[in-house]
Amino acid sequence: MRTVEGKSFGKIILLGEHSVVYGEPAIAIPFPSALITTKISESVGSCQLKCFNYTGDLMLAPESLIGLVELIKEIMKRLKQELNNFDIEIESTIPAERGMGSSAAVAAATARALYAYFDQALSDEELLDLVSISEKIVHGNPSGLDASIVVLEKPLYYIKGQAFEQFDFNLDAYLLVADTGEKGNTKFAVSSVKDFVDRDEKGKMYVSDLGQLVIDARKVFNDHDEIGLGNIMNKVQANLKALGVSNETLDKLVSVALANGALGAKLTGGGLGGCMIALMKSEADAKKVSQALLANGAKNTWITEMKSEGVK
Ligand code: MEV
Repeated sequence: MRTVEGKSFGKIILLGEHSVVYGEPAIAIPFPSALITTKISESVGSCQLKCFNYTGDLMLAPESLIGLVELIKEIMKRLKQELNNFDIEIESTIPAERGMGSSAAVAAATARALYAYFDQALSDEELLDLVSISEKIVHGNPSGLDASIVVLEKPLYYIKGQAFEQFDFNLDAYLLVADTGEKGNTKFAVSSVKDFVDRDEKGKMYVSDLGQLVIDARKVFNDHDEIGLGNIMNKVQANLKALGVSNETLDKLVSVALANGALGAKLTGGGLGGCMIALMKSEADAKKVSQALLANGAKNTWITEMKSEGVK
């Protein structure tokens, strides 16, 4: 029996979540620890789906998987194939809805697997288009950042609607990602920021301040200034909190990281749960912060060097 795999991984937004939806820049890196694998296996009868917490007929999948189901239907239409005689299994090394862009990664891994199964080439343009279809269903009004980074698979300086700009950096520092263990809800977070921005001048000001901080960060990266980057991360966190997308758990982990020697710390992704990141000067500092975060409720941590060449 024939089996074919497609892979993709999530991303970490270093700076610029939420404000990126309003045309401000963002900086994001691929995150290979969040690996998604989609397996297509030959079978008989209607397509069965096995993923996260659902196993059963694809066409009977719950509402929470609608983005994925619509994506698969669109791919079948483009490939002129029937939704029969193969099954789909999706595995992930991280839980869903942790602000790591796993919905875009699931879409990319699944598109890659289906095109490979039906022996069709898949261009970056078509992949971006397909991932964007499911992201619009899942997130309502996505900036396109998650979709772009799963296609490019390189660190990215991203502005909505503009050409991809690969972002290279090399800092003498370590980045830590910590999972709060709580599900985020990007769609809800994005729409609550929109309500704030629409009704209150302060909301608009936080968004433009966030944009300016990402512009400032470019210089800080160029100057290899990890202390400057830590300060910017702290200012970004304060703005995101003012926008209402942090929560008690994220605030607590941010404080714990700073109290244990982090140069800067902030939520990453949509917020209201999900993950936070912290920047440390040395690997020893990063390990110390990791232990403190795990002792204070973080469910998992990952440490990586702040060098773009190491990040795929
Ligand atoms: C979600 O990964 C990032 C947000 O900025 C939303 C978006 O960019 O579409 C919160």
